[in-house]
Amino acid sequence: MSALTKAGLKLPFSPTMQKETTRLLTRAFQQVRINGFLPTDEIRSHVRQTVDFLLHNRHAISLLADIHENDDETYVHSANTMFMAAAFAIRHQMEDAECFRWALAALLHDVGKTRIPEHILKKPGPLDLLEWEVMHQHPIYGFQILRKSPDPEIHGLAAQVAVEHHERLNGSGYPHHLGLDAVHPVSRSLMVLDIYEALTGHRVYRARSSPRKVIHYLMNDYSDRVSVPVILELASMVGIFPVGTFVENEDGEILMIQKYEDAENYRGEMTVLKIFGPGKKILPRPQKRKIPNLDPTTILRTYDYRAVGLTQEQWEYLMGGGAPGIT
Ligand SMILES: [Fe+2]
Ligand SMILES: [Fe+2]
Repeated sequence: MSALTKAGLKLPFSPTMQKETTRLLTRAFQQVRINGFLPTDEIRSHVRQTVDFLLHNRHAISLLADIHENDDETYVHSANTMFMAAAFAIRHQMEDAECFRWALAALLHDVGKTRIPEHILKKPGPLDLLEWEVMHQHPIYGFQILRKSPDPEIHGLAAQVAVEHHERLNGSGYPHHLGLDAVHPVSRSLMVLDIYEALTGHRVYRARSSPRKVIHYLMNDYSDRVSVPVILELASMVGIFPVGTFVENEDGEILMIQKYEDAENYRGEMTVLKIFGPGKKILPRPQKRKIPNLDPTTILRTYDYRAVGLTQEQWEYLMGGGAPGIT
């Protein structure tokens, strides 16, 4: 299997597996439109194959920066979201069965769009107020469709994720204005993958954005609506390390990225705080350092601020450029 070429960041399976998934979804969603039921067995075996592929080709997970083809948007979007959700779960070392549930829920999260009229779904421009109202029903439609499935994982987790994936922090989302604490952890992560996929993908009414731009947008303009730790996990999954990320390098040092010379693109000379020295030895005080860049292939793993013993306040203080001296 070919590794990524630095410029392309192409997934080795993108042309074939993504097309297969898209074809399967086209048929499945058509069936939902006609008789209201999903071809469950076919979907399960396809998701199983995809998750198995990713489990046995773990290096492919880091190559998710570009998985787009110009095809029917909802299907491509759902297929890509599934790849990302499976990869996300695998990176978190979840059990195989759990990775499967994440992938299945991700693949079906927008199934409610089968009940949205085509002229709204495929409108080549922004929707008006009334059209948005119709569009905002798709999580509820999805829930209704998936609840009818006899498959416990579909009428359970997948249905819940379908209805919750547009909820946002402090109840600013829809349809039930639940807030992040009230939704399932899979929904909390999937909503970030969903936005990332939608913005990096091609849409009829706007050009796609680069992964770096989208991560920057999520961190700077959207972090009051979704989970910041999830944004950071997603970023490291696609090989981007925004300010606030804790990375472990090959020497076992843990560094927090504090500043980039080119802040918008996360490029150029970086200021990092060394929290743990070689061999993960904790330092009495974090040390500030400047490094020319970070080679993603030398990063063994990334951490949440809690995993390095910081409170959210301390972490935010450091992200904002605060000086070392935390206790
Ligand atoms: Fe959606
Ligand atoms: Fe979506």
